[in-house]
Amino acid sequence: MKKRIGATLLLTAVALLSCLGGGLAMDRTELGNVIKAIPPNGPLWKYGTLIMRRRTKKAGMAPVVFAHWSHRARYTCRVCHLDLGFSMRAGDTGITRAQYTAGKYCGACHDEVTAFGVQGGEPSQCARCHMKDTRALEFSFETFAATLPMSGFGNGIDWALALKSGRISPKNTLSVAAPPMPLPEKLRLPMKLGTPAPRSDVTFSHEDHFRELDCSSCHPDIFNIKKKGTVDFSMDRNIFGDYCGVCHMRVAFPMNDCKRCHPSMSGFSGF
Ligand code: HEC
Ligand code: HEC
Ligand code: HEC
Ligand code: HEC
Ligand code: HEC
Ligand code: HEC
Repeated sequence: MKKRIGATLLLTAVALLSCLGGGLAMDRTELGNVIKAIPPNGPLWKYGTLIMRRRTKKAGMAPVVFAHWSHRARYTCRVCHLDLGFSMRAGDTGITRAQYTAGKYCGACHDEVTAFGVQGGEPSQCARCHMKDTRALEFSFETFAATLPMSGFGNGIDWALALKSGRISPKNTLSVAAPPMPLPEKLRLPMKLGTPAPRSDVTFSHEDHFRELDCSSCHPDIFNIKKKGTVDFSMDRNIFGDYCGVCHMRVAFPMNDCKRCHPSMSGFSGF
């Protein structure tokens, strides 16, 4: 793990050194403001790990700890956020014990067959989700991440590459009967962003995103489907969790990784 953290720091440092300049038309004050507003990258295992305590506290149970990193290696976003109906806003789903013991939400997989179960009885499995102590989870992250391609930010894992190279092959649906539809032909090419005219070099690829997500992950809640309909497409809004930032601050690679969205920033590629 020390090696991984060391290597991740090195990647970050290289990104920092190659900083400023580039083809992006923006002044330094603007750039500086963007950079100041982005929180620094935290411990690698914590990125995308949620502490769920909306109901546990009142019930006298330890909070539930849900790690995106272990689950997204096995299932695409679509499985949970479309098929199983989990919200992409933390705390929004409002999961109750009655629901998940009846096979909804976590209970769709945590049924003793696919994964450890949620029912009572011996041996008690409650503490595997209701965690008083996260050290075991932190430790399992080290083994888990060791074989995956690295990046400088987020989990320190390049998830896009892990997927493309077949290092992970997450299931895309739980039902064999309903495979997702293919991506429409006219959305195959990357598109320019921004209203009224693009202010930056950012393009958006439906193809890259459709591997794991569904149309309804983004439309109409995050992006209006009307051609170039997104008003005020600014970094400020991205950073505060709108638009790209709904995923790219929380689960997918974070905003610190400028260069992956701004390819011409030979300039500021991250920090
Ligand atoms: C095994 C199920 C599962 C998978 C797979 C999954 N998620 Fe989630 N996700 C959840 C749960 C559970 C929550 C919390 C929902 C709640 O609290 O109401 C969540 C929350 C989120 C949030 C909100 C996080 C926050 O801090 O506000 C985002 C964003 C998100 N998921 C994106 C993704 C993306 C992108 C993928 C695919 C790379 C993905 N999820 C894959 C189950 C999953
Ligand atoms: C789409 C299937 C699926 C859903 C939905 C799902 N899990 Fe899992 N989960 C798994 C599998 C598979 C494993 C690994 C097998 C095992 O440990 O038995 C796992 C492992 C875990 C672990 C062990 C530590 C880790 O992260 O690997 C925890 C804790 C956990 N899940 C919590 C949850 C919680 C909480 C929810 C609901 C918010 C949830 N899971 C929803 C499939 C799922
Ligand atoms: C697969 C993960 C998982 C396992 C295993 C699990 N829980 Fe939960 N539990 C959850 C989640 C998710 C919530 C909702 C957390 C929140 O949002 O506060 C929850 C909430 C609860 C709540 C409060 C919600 C309500 O409806 O009152 C109680 C009580 C509870 N669990 C008891 C238990 C007991 C007892 C066990 C063991 C027999 C257990 N849980 C095992 C995931 C799990
Ligand atoms: C990860 C998020 C995401 C997903 C998933 C996604 N889209 Fe989009 N879509 C966008 C963004 C961003 C834009 C550009 C919005 C803008 O410029 O205002 C867009 C624009 C569009 C447009 C307008 C095209 C144009 O030329 O202006 C259509 C039509 C569209 N999407 C359809 C779909 C369909 C159909 C799916 C599922 C197959 C899908 N999208 C999945 C994010 C997404
Ligand atoms: C609903 C969630 C979601 C939204 C919204 C979203 N993305 Fe993504 N994006 C992902 C996921 C998941 C990946 C896979 C890689 C990862 O997890 O780091 C990804 C991958 C990418 C990649 C490919 C990286 C590579 O190395 O191949 C780029 C570039 C990207 N997103 C840009 C954007 C831009 C620009 C926007 C806003 C217009 C956006 N994304 C909105 C979830 C999202
Ligand atoms: C997930 C993708 C993504 C990442 C990562 C990202 N940006 Fe952006 N950025 C965008 C989008 C989308 C726009 C708006 C596109 C447009 O209007 O042309 C934008 C616009 C900008 C602008 C134009 C001014 C403004 O506020 O709209 C600046 C400056 C900027 N980004 C700087 C950065 C810096 C610095 C980083 C790294 C710290 C970064 N961006 C990381 C997607 C991203």
